[in-house]
Amino acid sequence: MKTLKIGNLCASVPIVQGGMGVGISLAGLASAVASEGGIGVISSAGLGVIYGSRPADYREASIRGLKEELRKAREATRGIIGVNVMVAMSNFADMVRTAIAEKADIIFSGAGLPLSLPSFLPEGARTKLAPIVSSARAAVLLCRKWFEEYRYVPDAIVVEGPKAGGHLGYKREQIDDSHYSLETLVPEIVAEVSKFGAEHECHIPVIAGGGIYTGEDIYRIMELGAEGVQMGTRFVTTDECDADPAFKQSYIDARREDIEIIESPVGMPGRALRSSFLDRVREGLKRPKACPFDCIKTCDVTHSPYCIMLALYNAFKGKLQNGYAFCGANAWRAEKIQSVRELMSSLSAEYDSFAQKIKGLAR
Ligand SMILES: Cc1cc2nc3c(=O)[nH]c(=O)nc-3n(C[C@H](O)[C@H](O)[C@H](O)COP(=O)(O)O)c2cc1C
Repeated sequence: MKTLKIGNLCASVPIVQGGMGVGISLAGLASAVASEGGIGVISSAGLGVIYGSRPADYREASIRGLKEELRKAREATRGIIGVNVMVAMSNFADMVRTAIAEKADIIFSGAGLPLSLPSFLPEGARTKLAPIVSSARAAVLLCRKWFEEYRYVPDAIVVEGPKAGGHLGYKREQIDDSHYSLETLVPEIVAEVSKFGAEHECHIPVIAGGGIYTGEDIYRIMELGAEGVQMGTRFVTTDECDADPAFKQSYIDARREDIEIIESPVGMPGRALRSSFLDRVREGLKRPKACPFDCIKTCDVTHSPYCIMLALYNAFKGKLQNGYAFCGANAWRAEKIQSVRELMSSLSAEYDSFAQKIKGLAR
């Protein structure tokens, strides 16, 4: 596979492991991916619950947790380690500042447009900034704003299509509309971002995610102009994924019809595996008593059917009856738990054999 260059960072394998909260991608998974030549990403979402002993500690424990996860990852690998920080989180600024202070190689930021992200970068900081967007319009708007306000150009842009796991930057009716498919979005975004890059004498690599499952998928999306891929779902069923084995097993047991689109309390649609918890939510049987963490800017406890932080934390711990697993549209294809090394080498072999096939056809 081709290398992925983001400024002076060079990933020998063009695969970014998407940040997965709560707790699904911590130092264990991120360092394993980085050691195999990809970019490993620690999710900053919910670290305050994982590391805190009581809700009042949430803010401080989030900072401590991110420092600790970055330290563990650094001890385990010399590869590239990033941090995912969602704009929708109320501790966005804390997580960004900590990631930069702890010299994370790169910050990936989505679930809203991270318009202020460059303002956190002190002079001489080496952390790269990569926004996650869902449309060419958002990509261009963000490039312009960053340049106008901060004279900063994104180091890379991730485009996340509607087949991704977790929160989706689309309206429900757009999710199955081919106008919004990753294959449609990538050439549009690459064209717009290249134009912006040419005007500002720089190159911004585009990384595509959402539904990429095989080496052939990687090859095809890179032929459309992506320089790398972001993959989440495939990394869940690895030995090194930081979730409880029951979370991983829920992917293996899933059938296609078990994957559903939910309205999350964040105010965005999300893709998740059906669970008895979600059934109870649908039947209106759930109501949070209080908002323990104040974790999401847009979440209103008086209207939310449940506390998403607790639901995702329970799932991470394997208590799926009290929560649910986010997943990508292809999660039902998972067949086994394997090591990150096995996964990366099978993706690479599939990529190579498909590339050979295409070359053979062209001859
Ligand atoms: C369990 C799970 C949790 C996720 N959590 C986050 C998150 O906290 N922040 C984020 O930006 N994206 C999140 N995502 C999206 C992934 O980072 C990735 O972009 C996406 O899943 C790619 O699609 P794929 O799963 O089909 O490979 C999550 C995805 C999954 C499956």
